[in-house]
Amino acid sequence: MTTMMTSKPSPLTPTGTGHPTYTQSLPCAEESVGIARLSVAATLRAWGLEDLVDDARLIASELATNAIRHATRHIPDPEQRGCFRLKVERPSDHLVRISTFDRSRSVPRVVQSTETAESGRGMAVVEAISSRWGIDPKPWGKGVWAECATPGHLA
Ligand SMILES: Nc1ncnc2c1ncn2[C@@H]1O[C@H](COP(=O)(O)OP(=O)(O)OP(=O)(O)O)[C@@H](O)[C@H]1O
Ligand SMILES: [Mg+2]
Repeated sequence: MTTMMTSKPSPLTPTGTGHPTYTQSLPCAEESVGIARLSVAATLRAWGLEDLVDDARLIASELATNAIRHATRHIPDPEQRGCFRLKVERPSDHLVRISTFDRSRSVPRVVQSTETAESGRGMAVVEAISSRWGIDPKPWGKGVWAECATPGHLA
């Protein structure tokens, strides 16, 4: 005799709805750059994406530095500069998206910097190591995001 067994999903069974996201609000202060780097590395390691840690950490550094420096440069008192938000998403198994959200509506651009220039390289680096990057305009500011894919799975 064959017995048919049906099993109901337990409340603890993962339902597979969507990919994970890590997000963190950080003060607009230089110390936050290191925290953003650590958070991104820890998140990707938790997701088993060690291959992407170096690039994602560098992207996070550049985007966080820009959010701190350029979005709050008009506010002289550091105490009044508020926070920016870091977000790490995994839109698919092999793709990671790093974003920062700040309260300035001016947008980043890739600058053609000279050999000797002391600044103007951050977004060029982001463009070079990401598979794509972009801006997400908001009524209160913007998000800046960049994606990188695991080797062999370029988006
Ligand atoms: N979050 C931001 N908000 C407003 N403007 C930005 C932002 N990020 C970048 N920008 C603008 O884009 C320009 C280029 O940014 P990029 O990171 O390439 O250079 P930088 O920050 O000036 O220098 P570096 O990154 O080499 O220290 C900046 O000079 C700034 O005008
Ligand atoms: Mg920069």
